[in-house]
Amino acid sequence: MTERRKLIAGNWKMNGLKADGLALASDLAGRLKGAGAVPFDLLVCPPFPLLFPVGEAIKDSPLALGGQDCAPKTSGAHTGDVAPTMLTDAGCRYVILGHSERRADHAEADALIAAKAAAAHKEGLIAIVCVGETEAQRDAGQADAVVSGQLAGSIPAGATAANTVIAYEPVWAIGTGKTATPDDVKAMHANIRATLDGKIADPAKVLILYGGSVKPGNAAELMAVENVDGALVGGAALKADDFWAIATSC
Ligand code: G3P
Repeated sequence: MTERRKLIAGNWKMNGLKADGLALASDLAGRLKGAGAVPFDLLVCPPFPLLFPVGEAIKDSPLALGGQDCAPKTSGAHTGDVAPTMLTDAGCRYVILGHSERRADHAEADALIAAKAAAAHKEGLIAIVCVGETEAQRDAGQADAVVSGQLAGSIPAGATAANTVIAYEPVWAIGTGKTATPDDVKAMHANIRATLDGKIADPAKVLILYGGSVKPGNAAELMAVENVDGALVGGAALKADDFWAIATSC
């Protein structure tokens, strides 16, 4: 079976000011330093304004930095957008793309997410491409088809296991305290793994993260599910103790 090193990613979303972000990131960097060799990679994704101060604070740490979005262009007249090169300038190695909140709040379609991922790849960033069904789609038995369709449309040509991570985040589990059951997670991650064949080089090596109300109390069970290669954590990522407990449950 293909060994895949787990990735535990914290999506801070629109939370925290500079002091909060520096305190959280420095705490996590210190825990990583003290832990020595660990079986996971740890990643924090602050809001844009915090990227430079947090990036500077953790630059000598194995704690990785990521953005929560990027533009599909590298520069120019795109007011309010953030270019991939601006993420790498701040020290980012990853970027979350196609999060369900952006798909909903900003009407982001699969094609736009694929263009963003292609621009991120060109800049050397690892794109964490998010997919996931709504409760209505799951209740209608459309979950697999919806997620397979999102994958087909959101992954650009040239995607490999080295530059692309998939995050399965059932929309109905995000921020709700409702977590997908291990059986549902196993089935969907198997569907995703199968769908990647022909879309991404080395599909067996692609990390597939689970996100949606991951907490210290359910992390160990979820991380033990086949084809779960880590977590994309929201609320619990804002508390150092909880995020570290999730990471060390791997
Ligand atoms: O991107 C991760 C996020 O959507 C999950 O949020 O609060 O359910 O862990 P949460």
